[in-house]
Amino acid sequence: GQLEKGGYPHFMLKEIFEQPDCIHDCMRGRINVDADNVVLSAVIDNKERLLSAKRFIIVACGTSWHAGLIGKQLIESFCRIPVEVEYASEFRYRDPVINEQDVVIAISQSGETADTLAAVELAKSRGAFIYGICNAIGSSIPRATHTGSYIHVGPEIGVASTKAFTGQVTVLAMLALTLAKEKGTIDERYYLSVVRELNQIPEKMKEVLKLNDKLAELSKTFTYAHNFIYLGRGYSYPVALEGALKLKEISYIHAEGYPAAEMKHGPIALIDAEMPVVVIATQNALYEKVLSNIQEIKARKGRVIAFVTKGDTVISQIADCSIELPETIECLNPLITTVPLQLLAYHIAVCKGMDVDQPRNLAKSVTVE
Ligand code: AGP
Repeated sequence: GQLEKGGYPHFMLKEIFEQPDCIHDCMRGRINVDADNVVLSAVIDNKERLLSAKRFIIVACGTSWHAGLIGKQLIESFCRIPVEVEYASEFRYRDPVINEQDVVIAISQSGETADTLAAVELAKSRGAFIYGICNAIGSSIPRATHTGSYIHVGPEIGVASTKAFTGQVTVLAMLALTLAKEKGTIDERYYLSVVRELNQIPEKMKEVLKLNDKLAELSKTFTYAHNFIYLGRGYSYPVALEGALKLKEISYIHAEGYPAAEMKHGPIALIDAEMPVVVIATQNALYEKVLSNIQEIKARKGRVIAFVTKGDTVISQIADCSIELPETIECLNPLITTVPLQLLAYHIAVCKGMDVDQPRNLAKSVTVE
């Protein structure tokens, strides 16, 4: 009913707008602002087991799998531990190579996804140590794991996952930071800058949410499109996948997420004047490369919607429209860039008159195999 939606027309919009508070709740008691440090207790309590692992394997489905792709980059870069990211449904049916020296991180909002639960049971039976990152307290996956951390973002009702994704990325960042500090693989100054920046994320998300009207306006221009491409590189590549999934789920527009540099290996053939291309083009180490990817699209008359860092004067000149986002540290960028993509998908679906909270053919948790 209207009451549970807190005045918002849909749960999805409410959940998008809750994100600054959710991320704050997720970090509560884990990030100590004065001491400038992060402590995820499940990591500290199991540090010998985690640090003796030869590799980590992340298993998840859908949006949670996208969070896992970001987790891989965070853990590899901070902790120098190799990480594989697997669709739970592929992993479990493959007789995977897994043993006592592995740590499996299972990510699931609902904690009830059948394939993820089965992947956990399989890995456990082979002696792996299982760490859960879930939202629903006391659900099946947290009960089946050895340890874990809840994301604490509150119940997510909209079928399209929003706040759970940013909560998962936040926990993965805290996990990587806690472990890296224990292992001694992270530069102290860099560690402090990431911790401090994590603390700023809720405020910066609030700033992003102020773009809501602008994104609603922009969405009207694109409801005609039958296809969308989403591009990003590095930490923005999983964000592109997630943006495309959101659009598919609720607006029924076909969308592909691609690593921007892969365009020239095939998908660029799709580009014409009808094709909207969403590019996450915020300031980072690959900025110049993304800029040339955009030029390639413009040369083929694609319509570029670019998400840039505030103050960008270069990409905003070439793109058909550009949306400015607050600056943040590269590894935390997904927490900022995901939010406008959620809003874009939401408004396009609303423009098309779709049932945003209950999209056709989808269930909130997939308990069938
Ligand atoms: C995302 O918007 C989805 N509806 C879906 O992909 C979801 O993320 C997936 O089914 C995994 O669910 P879980 O996190 O509850 O395991």
